[in-house]
Amino acid sequence: MSDAVLSETVLEISGLEFQWSKQSPVMHVDQLEVLAGERVFLKGASGSGKSTLLSLIGGVTTATTGRLAVLQKDLQSMSAKQRDRFRADHLGLIFQQFNLIPYLTALENVLLTGRFSKQRKISQKDAFTLLDELGIDSQLAEKQVFHLSIGQQQRVAAARVLAGKPQLIIADEPTSALDEETRDGYLDLLFHQCQSHGATLVFVSHDRTLASLFDREVNISDVVRWSNTSMNNEQGGAL
Ligand SMILES: Nc1ncnc2c1ncn2[C@@H]1O[C@H](COP(=O)(O)OP(=O)(O)O)[C@@H](O)[C@H]1O
Ligand SMILES: [Mg+2]
Repeated sequence: MSDAVLSETVLEISGLEFQWSKQSPVMHVDQLEVLAGERVFLKGASGSGKSTLLSLIGGVTTATTGRLAVLQKDLQSMSAKQRDRFRADHLGLIFQQFNLIPYLTALENVLLTGRFSKQRKISQKDAFTLLDELGIDSQLAEKQVFHLSIGQQQRVAAARVLAGKPQLIIADEPTSALDEETRDGYLDLLFHQCQSHGATLVFVSHDRTLASLFDREVNISDVVRWSNTSMNNEQGGAL
């Protein structure tokens, strides 16, 4: 990480509020900042709001109030369509479920990323190379993914997310179903890819043992607060 790169803010949240529905508690995120090239480990108990926070950062859901800027673009002011485009062009989302299309080959799954974004279109040759770097040789790359082992599918999913060099990768407990050895190998390749592409990584897990591998550890309870009222209401009295 160079200082020049570090001066850029990749994620900036302040005074954000979100509710899953009008009846559900209000999630408050007072302040969170992530700089370019950082690898951030976001930890917290189950139900503490990790996935909810990632869905906001990924533009899958939207806050009711506050500021949320990703790659210095204000997601709050975008339409749903603009957010979809922004996500396809700039973000890599990794989930525990790999979201691969089982009857397509590994290669076709990787090429799919480029179908949703011109900016991230990669050639067949580059897709083979990327898969190979992740331990999927050209023979495996042409197999339908349901023929691959779980560990191999995980690698294909990582290749699909990394295709076309997303600037920000957000990962939601991607290693929780893996055994220790597969997990360590997976983290190694994720870090390596992030570093060589200059990508920023926000990685969520409840597994504290992983924290030391990251540049920074953020406790979700220091960032997220749940209450029954919006700050707007608290300040302005009852509606
Ligand atoms: N799709 C959803 N609809 C309604 N409530 C949800 C949804 N997803 C999560 N929640 C609620 O939001 C809170 C935080 O959940 P979540 O973000 O999934 O936590 P974590 O990922 O840390 O386990 C929980 O109370 C959960 O029930
Ligand atoms: Mg979760």
